[in-house]
Amino acid sequence: MKIIMLGAPGAGKGTQAKQIAAKYSIPHISTGDIFRANIKNGTELGKKAKTYMDQGQLVPDELTCDLVMDRIQQDDCKNGFVLDGFPRTIPQAEALTAALEKVGQKMEYAIDVDVPDENIVNRMGGRRACLNCGATYHVVFNPTKVEGKCDACGSETVLRDDDKPETVQKRLTVYHEQTQPLIDYYKKQNILHSVDGTQPMDDVFAAIVGILGE
Ligand code: AP5
Ligand code: ZN
Repeated sequence: MKIIMLGAPGAGKGTQAKQIAAKYSIPHISTGDIFRANIKNGTELGKKAKTYMDQGQLVPDELTCDLVMDRIQQDDCKNGFVLDGFPRTIPQAEALTAALEKVGQKMEYAIDVDVPDENIVNRMGGRRACLNCGATYHVVFNPTKVEGKCDACGSETVLRDDDKPETVQKRLTVYHEQTQPLIDYYKKQNILHSVDGTQPMDDVFAAIVGILGE
């Protein structure tokens, strides 16, 4: 099963992608998580990516595409994968389509998690992320058991650098300009499905399972 998660920053792509990966036993590939791991480890890629991410801008396609193409060719992707945060521009989508065509494959589902901008700003301010394992929480909608400590690994949970209100606005603008056109791109490929992302998390997941099948 080859799935793309579409949606604005904070729409809940990561939250849903993790559950999809667990239910269908396929890897969850998040470009945002890959960049954050590189930043944490101080790699060259991480240093380059951070300058863009902190400003709410996209990391250039040439730093992003090869990374994903390498990842989806690994053994654990044989039965499919769920892409979260990629593609994010038309050139990225075209690179993905072309890479899969070369091996006689194509994406099967593009799931758009639809949430209006007004809801996004509230969500991001309440998000807390674990610096160690990448788990995501929300102070109201999905709180940690102990305040400020990750349920999974006990490390500190923090507000992401790019979740400050002024950066969130910039990310939304970039989303509308560069990523939203992908909705039409995948509609034309007949693989687009939209779910109402303003529902509680479990209801969003149930809607996605309704699309993908049990
Ligand atoms: P990335 O990490 O991909 O960020 P994003 O797309 O902005 O998405 P988020 O992780 O912010 O949100 P999400 O939709 O996963 O929501 P979540 O599930 O956490 O990218 C970060 C940056 O990296 C980009 O800005 C860019 O610079 C760079 N980058 C990454 N990929 C790139 C690419 N392909 N090309 C170029 N640059 C790239 O949920 C959000 C919050 O809401 C959480 O607190 C959650 O608990 C809560 N929540 C989730 N669902 C619900 C619900 N149904 N009800 C209530 N609360 C909910
Ligand atoms: Zn953790």
